[in-house]
Amino acid sequence: MTQTETMTEEATIAQHYPIVVSVVGSKGGAGKTSICAALASAMVFAGKKVLLIDADIQKSLFEWALRAKQNGLSSDLMTATKVKSLDELDATLDDAFDRSNPDFVLIDTAGIAGDWAQAVVASSNLVITPVVLTANNVEGAIKTHEWFQRLKQRADKPEDMPAHIILLTRLERTLGPYEKELLDKAKKELNLFNLAIRDRKAYRHMESDGLLGEIAREKKLSDNAMERGQAKHYIEALSEMSHIFNDMLLAADKEG
Ligand SMILES: Nc1ncnc2c1ncn2[C@@H]1O[C@H](COP(=O)(O)OP(=O)(O)OP(=O)(O)O)[C@@H](O)[C@H]1O
Ligand SMILES: [Mg+2]
Repeated sequence: MTQTETMTEEATIAQHYPIVVSVVGSKGGAGKTSICAALASAMVFAGKKVLLIDADIQKSLFEWALRAKQNGLSSDLMTATKVKSLDELDATLDDAFDRSNPDFVLIDTAGIAGDWAQAVVASSNLVITPVVLTANNVEGAIKTHEWFQRLKQRADKPEDMPAHIILLTRLERTLGPYEKELLDKAKKELNLFNLAIRDRKAYRHMESDGLLGEIAREKKLSDNAMERGQAKHYIEALSEMSHIFNDMLLAADKEG
């Protein structure tokens, strides 16, 4: 066997498939797109290649990736695309598996109605549903949870279904009695993930600027001492999201 042949064989063995993570939920404004952008930030910061697929007609995630690029706050490790049909989604995923081979694919979605969300779930290794402590949102998460359970019951091989993680987000530092009550209800009726994303200005600024790690890097280099001081808020958000993502992967691994 020639050296080239040996190397090709090793390359084939070493080839890995992307891990597909999707964010779904029945309530708008829960923070789906922000979770995608924050997860992308964590993945890129860890040196991982990520493909963003925006399956929401509002295109918020795709436009965020464009803005990040225009602001010089993106990365070569991140590419973004938008899909308008299930065929386009399939073709994009096929291309990711056969050719571009990112470490992670992140899919942002609009709602859980129709075939769309089912197809996304079927293609995913991990499905995340964000929940915020408002009455509507907790109800929405319960509906999404029930919908996922029904999909699992109907699946030919329920054991092949992805892990479903219900993630509390935009959590305030202190909770009033109303929020505490909602949290109790959510804990009782949902299998809530044990970590939560805090409500942070850094996540809101990420939405208009770009990747958390890149914003932090830019702030650190600023001539303005106030700006330099702000870098830590982005680092905190980035490390929060990295920690949550690592734990979600471990949980998905245990379930799978
Ligand atoms: N952890 C957070 N801390 C602070 N603000 C947040 C956080 N997560 C989301 N937000 C803010 O909440 C708003 C809604 O978030 P986002 O757009 O991510 O929700 P969505 O579920 O994608 O909404 P849509 O249904 O419109 O797609 C945005 O203004 C965003 O900046
Ligand atoms: Mg969105």
